[in-house]
Amino acid sequence: QIYSRIAGTGSYLPEKVLTNDDLAKFIDTSDEWIAARTGIRERHVAAEGEFTSDLAYHASVRALEAAGVDAKDLDLIVVGTTTPDLIFPSTACLLQHRIGAGGCAAFDVNAACSGFIYALTVADKFIRSGAAKTVLVVGAETLTRMLDWSDRSTCVLFGDGAGAVVLKADTETGILSTHMHADGGKKELLWNPVGVSVGFKPDEPNAGVKVLMTGNEVFKHAVKALDSVVEETLEANGLDRHDIDWLIPHQANLRIIEATAKRLDMPMDRVIVTVDKHGNTSSGSVPLALDEAVRSGRVQRGQLVLLEAFGGGFTWGSALLRY
Ligand code: ACO
Repeated sequence: QIYSRIAGTGSYLPEKVLTNDDLAKFIDTSDEWIAARTGIRERHVAAEGEFTSDLAYHASVRALEAAGVDAKDLDLIVVGTTTPDLIFPSTACLLQHRIGAGGCAAFDVNAACSGFIYALTVADKFIRSGAAKTVLVVGAETLTRMLDWSDRSTCVLFGDGAGAVVLKADTETGILSTHMHADGGKKELLWNPVGVSVGFKPDEPNAGVKVLMTGNEVFKHAVKALDSVVEETLEANGLDRHDIDWLIPHQANLRIIEATAKRLDMPMDRVIVTVDKHGNTSSGSVPLALDEAVRSGRVQRGQLVLLEAFGGGFTWGSALLRY
């Protein structure tokens, strides 16, 4: 049996910070409202000329360093992103060139906020099948580039950031199971309504590129889907909910995170929460939280860690691993 083991983690947040009070200067909102409804206090915003691949680059360099892996030894790069620098080449190809990993396969996975879980799952399959031994998996986004800054119901929620992990084939332990789901029937509850094939809207700000969301509906679907995928993961591994050492959830909303923790009967001190510091960074969120958990010394080798995410599509999924 071959497992994919996390050999190193890394993350990166752009320098510029936008607090809730900063937002309240140009839209009708308040720190109290945002913090009470979402747990978010501030988010990071990429500088002009700073792109998703730049965020991915910094996170990747840190993950490679932590893993003690040379970029030249990578067999594959998978980047989860819904805000690629360009339509093509993929962000993974841009990243591959920049870190000097010439030659290996590189591609993006678009599953909105579940992008990292999807990318991790793909990478795990490559390693388990013996097709790859060392894989870089990244979640990187510049979501603030696709926000309508006059829509207070969406623009307060998102931020920019990236996280990365290096996976290595291991004969002892690593990722134990992954679970992915999608429901394309709920498209209009959370989406960006323009694109290359549908066309853009030249008369609208940002050519019509924006996040549209029916927040309370998404909230309900997210809680339900995450409950069921957590249940599925426990069952698949013959585990009791009390066996999990750490929950590392998608960092979208503290109330959604608390609902999943409650389902697992898990005290909040065993749940990694970083949403207060960077808002919803979509694909970046789970690896950002994972890196924080590892570097702060909370997640230790040998512990059971449950990752989960939910996003536009809808997409959702989980990964259970022995760190
Ligand atoms: N500041 C102040 N008031 C606001 C703001 C704001 N930023 N945004 C909305 N409001 C108002 C609304 O206009 C509404 O006012 P009304 O009652 O007078 O009409 C009121 O607050 C309540 O609005 P709701 O949308 O019902 O508030 P809710 O409690 O559902 O919270 C929120 C909204 C935070 C968006 C919540 O629904 C949520 O988090 N949903 C999940 C969204 C999410 O997590 N998405 C990400 C998961 S998927 C992914 O990651 C892409």
